[in-house]
Amino acid sequence: MDRTKIILDCDPGHDDAVAIMLAGKSPKIDLLGITVVAGNQTLDNTQRNALNVVQCLGLDVPVYAGCGQPMIREKMTAGDIHGKTGLDGPVFEPLTRKLEPEHGVNFIIRTLMESNDPITMVTTGPMTNLGMAIRMEPRIVEKIQRIVLMGGAYTNGNVTPAAEFNIIADADAAYVCFTSGRPITMVGLDVTRKALCYPSIVERMDKVGNKASKLFVDLMKHFCKSQKEVFGWEGGPLHDPITVAYLIDPTVLTTKPMHAEIDIRSTQSYGRTNCDYFGYQKKEPNADVAIDIDVEKFWNMIEEGLRLYS
Ligand code: BDR
Ligand code: CA
Repeated sequence: MDRTKIILDCDPGHDDAVAIMLAGKSPKIDLLGITVVAGNQTLDNTQRNALNVVQCLGLDVPVYAGCGQPMIREKMTAGDIHGKTGLDGPVFEPLTRKLEPEHGVNFIIRTLMESNDPITMVTTGPMTNLGMAIRMEPRIVEKIQRIVLMGGAYTNGNVTPAAEFNIIADADAAYVCFTSGRPITMVGLDVTRKALCYPSIVERMDKVGNKASKLFVDLMKHFCKSQKEVFGWEGGPLHDPITVAYLIDPTVLTTKPMHAEIDIRSTQSYGRTNCDYFGYQKKEPNADVAIDIDVEKFWNMIEEGLRLYS
């Protein structure tokens, strides 16, 4: 079976951790490396969290630290949702796994340049690392098969009415990626808000009874509690792993080609992904924007993903 080669660029983050989990053992995915960015928490936190997750799951995948700051703007974090560590909840064994010495941006550039096959870039945090890589070595662009990102919304944001966290946290980097000319699949809040991890889902995954399901449950207990405190929702939206689920089985999402532009100019709508749903502007679509999700299929995929661990 041909496996889709991916680099997962993330800012763990509870839902990022589940994205790693889903990609880590899938027979359909060849996870070449994990690059980490500041986002949900500072880079010190997110890189340690990524290492904890791969160590806990026993995944033999290299982890690289990338950028600790957005391209231009001041750093923002999401401690209200993900806690002080960025991954509050689970208690991990002492960390023995180490970061690779290469910078995450250099790893992205080197891997793409040396690869004979196209590589899919999956981003589940601010797009700083990929944006920087594209600016540093524009020849990588043609090697990117597709950019699949969790970010944005064609409806409402979650940081401002206009903007979603991953985009507003580094809108300039998102702008670089969205104007790269490579195919984009935008998995935004419009669909991720439908994948609510209710207590019944947590109970269901708990029954899997292995180390991955234990981690999932420990993560989701904290994540759902903070989603309730911040947004008043009963179940937390499990945003990030939907990108990986889509690569495993694209039928989990319904997408629509649209022209999508990142707003890096206005004040109130800064960081908005302006998606021309109705094609008013007659511009060539540059993104397949997710407009619906088969929620039942998604949870089945999460359960199957957890069962791949011993
Ligand atoms: C995104 O922001 C982060 O808090 C989550 O990990 C997800 O990537 C949702 O807006
Ligand atoms: Ca994330």
